[in-house]
Amino acid sequence: WNSRPLSLWRYKEILPVTGEPVTLQEGGTPLYHMKRIGEELGLKNLYAKHEGLNPSGSFKDRGMTVGVSMALQLGMKTVACASTGNTSASLAQYAAKAGIPAVVLLPAGKVALGKVAQALMHGAKVIAVRGNFDRALEMVQELCLTEGLYLLNSVNPYRLEGQKTIGLETVDQLGEVPDRMVLPVGNAGNISAVYKGMLELEELGFTDKIPVMTGVQAAGSMPVVKAIAEGLEVLEPQKDPETIATAIRIGAPVNAEKALLAIRQTGGTALSVTDDEILEMQRDLARKEGIGVEPASAASVAGIKKMAEAGLLDKDEKIVCVVTGHLLKDPETVIRQCDPPVEIDADLKSLRAVLR
Ligand code: F0G
Repeated sequence: WNSRPLSLWRYKEILPVTGEPVTLQEGGTPLYHMKRIGEELGLKNLYAKHEGLNPSGSFKDRGMTVGVSMALQLGMKTVACASTGNTSASLAQYAAKAGIPAVVLLPAGKVALGKVAQALMHGAKVIAVRGNFDRALEMVQELCLTEGLYLLNSVNPYRLEGQKTIGLETVDQLGEVPDRMVLPVGNAGNISAVYKGMLELEELGFTDKIPVMTGVQAAGSMPVVKAIAEGLEVLEPQKDPETIATAIRIGAPVNAEKALLAIRQTGGTALSVTDDEILEMQRDLARKEGIGVEPASAASVAGIKKMAEAGLLDKDEKIVCVVTGHLLKDPETVIRQCDPPVEIDADLKSLRAVLR
C-alpha cells in the first residue's frame, strides 16, 4: 500500500466498509518529533501524533468515517451518541456529510465550547442531560435499543476499526513499530483500537513487535488506573469523576475490559496526572513545540513526563504520544490560563512603550 497517500483509506482492505465511504479526508495526521520537550526529559525519540488535525479536530473522525459509512451500509436512518464533546462534534459532521439526522446527548455544562458549537452548527439534535457522561451513555443506549437509532459510541465495533489506523499510520510514518504508545484514556476505546491495529499488523506478518501500551487518566477520573494498580479483572466504576480535561471525565468506561487487556498483554502501564500537570503540559506543547491541543490530549505527554522524571523510561525508547484533540476545542480553558492581550492606543509610541 506504499503508493497510496497517507490517509485512513490507505488501509481499506482491513476496514469493514465495502461501498463508497462517507469521508471528509480523515487521517494522514502529522507525527512530530518533540525535540525540546524530549531533550528536557532526556528522551531522544519522543513523538506526538497530532490527531487534532483531523477534519473535526479530533481522532473521533477516524471512527466516524467508518461508523457512519457502516450505518448507511446497514440501512440505518438516524445516528446517535452520548459524548463528552468530540464524539458529538464528529458525528454531527459526518451525519451532515451523509445527509442523515444525528441525535447527541451531552452532560449539561461539562462540554467544552468549541465542541458544542460544532455539534450545533453541523445540525445535530443536541440534548444536554442533567447528569454525567456515564448516565448520558446509559440513556442513549436504551434509546437506540427501543427506537432503532444507530448507536455510534465506541461500544460500536466499527468505531474502533477506524481508530485502529492511528497505530498503522504511526508505523508507516516512523518506519518501524514504536517501543511505546501513550494515549489519554476516557471511555477506553482508543487505546483498545490502537492495540487491535498493532495486533493485526503482527497477524498479517508485517512485524513481530507490539508497542507497550500506556494509558493516562486524570487524577480525578481514573478507574482504569485503579483497576491496573489493584489487579482487578473487572473495573470498578468511579461515581463522580471530575477533571479540567472534560473529554476524559468518565467513570465507567465501556471499553475497560479491552483496555485492561491491551495494557496487561503488552507489559504496559496506566498512570494518572493532576489537572495542574495537564495544563502545564498543554502550555509546554503549545510554546515549546508549536503543538496546540486540548487538555485531555496533553495528558498523554504529561504522563510521559511523569514517567521520565521517575526514571521509568529508557533514553532511546521510541515513544509516540497520541494527542487527541485540537487546542481550539476548549478556548475557555486556554483563555483562563493566559494573560489577556495588552490593549494600547493606536499609535507607535504606545506600541514601542509596551514592547520595551
Ligand atoms: N482525548 C480526547 C480529546 C477525547 O475526546 C477522548 C474521548 C479521549 C481522549 C479518550 O478516548 O474515550 O477512546 O478513551 N472522548 C469521548 C467523547 C468520550 O465523547 O468525545 P477514549
